[in-house]
Amino acid sequence: MEKYIITGGKPLKGEVIISGAKNAAVALLPATVLAGDVCVLENVPDISDIRKEIEILRQMGAKVTRLSPSSLEIDTSTLNTTEVPLELGIKFRASYYFLGSLLSRFGDANVPMPGGCDLGARPIDQHLKAFTALGAAYELDYAMINVKTDNLQGAHIFFDTVSVGATINAMLAAVKAKGTTILENVAKEPHIVDVANFLNTMGADVRGAGTDVIKIRGVERMHGATYTVIPDQIEAGTFMVAAAATRGDILVKNVTPEHLEIITSKLRATGAVVEEFDEAVRVIGVSEYQNTNIKTRPHPGFPTDLQPVMGVLLCLAKGTSIVTESIWDSRFRYCDELNKMGANIQVESRVAVFEGVEKLQPAPVKATDLRAGAALVIAALCAEGQSEITEIQHVERGYVDIVKKIRALGGDIRKVVVPEGEVLKKAH
Ligand code: EPZ
Repeated sequence: MEKYIITGGKPLKGEVIISGAKNAAVALLPATVLAGDVCVLENVPDISDIRKEIEILRQMGAKVTRLSPSSLEIDTSTLNTTEVPLELGIKFRASYYFLGSLLSRFGDANVPMPGGCDLGARPIDQHLKAFTALGAAYELDYAMINVKTDNLQGAHIFFDTVSVGATINAMLAAVKAKGTTILENVAKEPHIVDVANFLNTMGADVRGAGTDVIKIRGVERMHGATYTVIPDQIEAGTFMVAAAATRGDILVKNVTPEHLEIITSKLRATGAVVEEFDEAVRVIGVSEYQNTNIKTRPHPGFPTDLQPVMGVLLCLAKGTSIVTESIWDSRFRYCDELNKMGANIQVESRVAVFEGVEKLQPAPVKATDLRAGAALVIAALCAEGQSEITEIQHVERGYVDIVKKIRALGGDIRKVVVPEGEVLKKAH
């Protein structure tokens, strides 16, 4: 087990280069199955979820070669099974994208019930609804989902709820279905557009991604392609908030500023200074922040994945801020940890009331999920003195080289191995 030791109180200053988007890349790797050919993916974040997907592809017979730390050559012509290994697939969420791509290419997919961050109930009924509408049948068998069909047929599908995962899985399943598929009430996140662009580069005909309706004309064949993953909007937002909360000054590079508009506007509402450039944003912290309210929404609303991170800044903003979480049931568990650091947050179901405090104090805290962990890292960087964060495997699922990037900005963070049986000691 590993933990972070962070000595906070120093503003983060300098430049940071944002990696490729996790939530796009974790869909693009399974999408290469559709090519049955060689694909090259560039700007792929080297994070644990991606390493698991590489291992899944290899165990299924694909050849995966790392051309550089962020580019992969994937040859899926040699796939020899439609079954994702249970022990790998069960460990993270995005393994379920193999359902759509294997179903589309082979008419058969066997994938473990997906794991991932514990954010409350995470049903997959909308994925299954899409597969069924396209002519597949599914059954669940001892933690495995089997979906199969003799013939995928284009269909008109109206999603009951806006879902990133179901939108992507439906696109993956429909690209080679006979005829036309119309998907309505779809998710519009930048990574939806990225997946559609990659599918089109492989020969698919997907239009309308980024709007409420996606139209897919089935094609007979797809082929290999070279594609570059978009920058990670959530990693960028995390460093933007870190600049503001530590009262620092960070130039966040390799970003698409339009994907960051909502976080930019919320940061400005608190009083932080945000400057926008072609492929970068600069955030300059100020001495005092104003309260603001947040309600998470599917894109283009405020992303739920930045809610915990932004919560740290609201702890330090004057007055009362109200945060409403409308996507996940359990996304406020980080608030208990922040309260251990001197924050004043009261949570009632999906609403959290933040009363601003002068400063946060160091404490031993636990990352309860990926973005909760990122929030605690920022909080510890703000708190004068030494904090410890455990359960950091969650953080490392989503952030490339987070320790190295923060250290390059002047932050005092170390990753250390926790000796077995170690009990918490008071830091000095
Ligand atoms: C994706 O999860 C992201 N994960 C999450 O990122 C992110 O929080 C979420 O989208 C929302 O933006 C990946 O891309 C791997 P959803 P996903 O399907 O696809 C309900 C992070 O920190 N729903 O858009 O699982 C669901 O319960 C994370 O990087 C159904 O009811 O999210 C939720 O309330 C964690 N039935 C809402 O829709 C379904 O079949 C949105 O979920 C599917 C979803």
